[in-house]
Amino acid sequence: MVSRIIPVEAFDIVVIGGTGDLARRKILPALFKRHCAGQMLDDSRLIGAARRDLDTEGYREYVRDALREFAGELALNEAAVQAFCAHVHYVSIDARGEKGWEDLADLTTQDRVRSFYFSVGPGLFSDIAQRLQSYGMTNEDSRIVVEKPFGRDLETARDLNAQLARYFDESQIYRIDHYLGKETVQNLMAVRFGNMLFEPLWNAQYIDHIQITVAESVGVEGRGEYYEKAGAMRDMMQNHLMQLLCLIAMEPPAKFDPDAVRDEKLKVIRALDSVQPHHIVRGQYTASDGATSYREDVGNERSKTESFVALRCHLNNWRWAGTPFYLRTGKRLSHRDSEITVVFKDTPHSIFGPEAGRHRNELTIQLQPNEGITLGVTIKEPGPGGMRLIDVPLDMSFAEALGPEANTPDAYERLIMDVIRGNQTLFMRNDEVEAAWAWTDPIIRGWEARGDVPKPYDAFSAGPDDAMLMMRRDERDWKGLDK
Ligand code: NDP
Ligand code: BG6
Repeated sequence: MVSRIIPVEAFDIVVIGGTGDLARRKILPALFKRHCAGQMLDDSRLIGAARRDLDTEGYREYVRDALREFAGELALNEAAVQAFCAHVHYVSIDARGEKGWEDLADLTTQDRVRSFYFSVGPGLFSDIAQRLQSYGMTNEDSRIVVEKPFGRDLETARDLNAQLARYFDESQIYRIDHYLGKETVQNLMAVRFGNMLFEPLWNAQYIDHIQITVAESVGVEGRGEYYEKAGAMRDMMQNHLMQLLCLIAMEPPAKFDPDAVRDEKLKVIRALDSVQPHHIVRGQYTASDGATSYREDVGNERSKTESFVALRCHLNNWRWAGTPFYLRTGKRLSHRDSEITVVFKDTPHSIFGPEAGRHRNELTIQLQPNEGITLGVTIKEPGPGGMRLIDVPLDMSFAEALGPEANTPDAYERLIMDVIRGNQTLFMRNDEVEAAWAWTDPIIRGWEARGDVPKPYDAFSAGPDDAMLMMRRDERDWKGLDK
């Protein structure tokens, strides 16, 4: 399959925090790969900006290193790396002072798209935005990209939104949720709105419940200081799982256009009912199978931060009234597995009698790894001896269906090019982020008020037993992890 590359005009992208971990792991490799795909015209520039005293040659060396570590096989092509580095420049700046800003303004070009990627802690956003303005770098072709965490509650998110709104119009602000850049996540929309098959059944009348699991086998991976203050609820549920829920539950937007899509997502978040305390389980991993405990990993023997959360929620709207949504996410679970399962209701009447058993259709959308879709259908068990029914999967692995040549760019590649093109569809709008915090805040506040302690679970297990019990009480089972 030949991938279609949409050309973009020459641009400048300034990575503020260009020497940080995120730049090294994600942003620099993503730009390199887009360069290899032919999307960075000769005079486009990547300008790294950070405190460190480096010159452009020093930063190019840093970029080469980052690519060797994180850009996979493409980085073995020395000529490609050299060609990419010719686009790279560096300015040493201080976000809190005046050092370097004039040089940065001189280096960036007025008559083209200029994107400023804030790859720094949110405490610096306001200082940077203010300096971009005072040094004349904020015309209508300027955009800013901001990373998560976007606040730690509704109040701080509102505050950040207000700070940025002082210098930039909402149409210039790109809030990243990298899950939206994942090819399979975008496929959720294609599956729902590109097929006649599913949409007529996509409601409470035909769907028993929906499950969303985003499981990781990794622990906190050296980000203990950040994670201790965030926990799974802020780190994953408030953003990534909330976005998946929106895409699975939203009404069809009139067109695939940034505000049409984001309006529909916002309605989903606003329709969310508050979660009852007995419909939520927090967990924290303990040492097991050679892995250290969460508390050891973050260096806090008394930590009450959750590394796992599972909950049941409801949407108060016409389409979904009465259909539970079960969401769970956690670190140090048995394996990496992100999937959504739509469990349809039983047929209204079985013509085959009770001995044929109870059978339901399930649609599983596997987000990562091994992206694909499986539809469980009921057929007759072959052979004589009466009508016995069994479930068999109608499987479609994207890798098999689309072939090894299929173009599956990393989420950051897609999202960065969308910024350059000025397409905000896959970025969170201010009201979406605030609505998500408005739903999350009371849950977290409830835990704090009750002094709630997360339930322990063994590293590399399926999470705390209470999460299983929560499902069993509803006479249902989690799909995925426990298979
Ligand atoms: P790092 O601490 O690794 O990097 C921070 C960067 O900011 C460095 O380049 C540093 O420059 C620069 N910096 C700090 N202070 C100043 C200043 N006063 N003036 C100019 N530059 C400054 O952080 P990360 O890269 O990990 O994270 C960046 C942002 O991305 C954070 O908001 C984080 O939450 C978010 N994020 C990170 C993820 C990750 O995997 N790392 C994942 C998702 C979000 P210098 O090196 O010169 O000191
Ligand atoms: C990040 C979280 O946003 O997403 C991390 O901060 C998490 O804790 C990561 O590990 C998961 O992303 P992915 O793309 O590996 O599923």
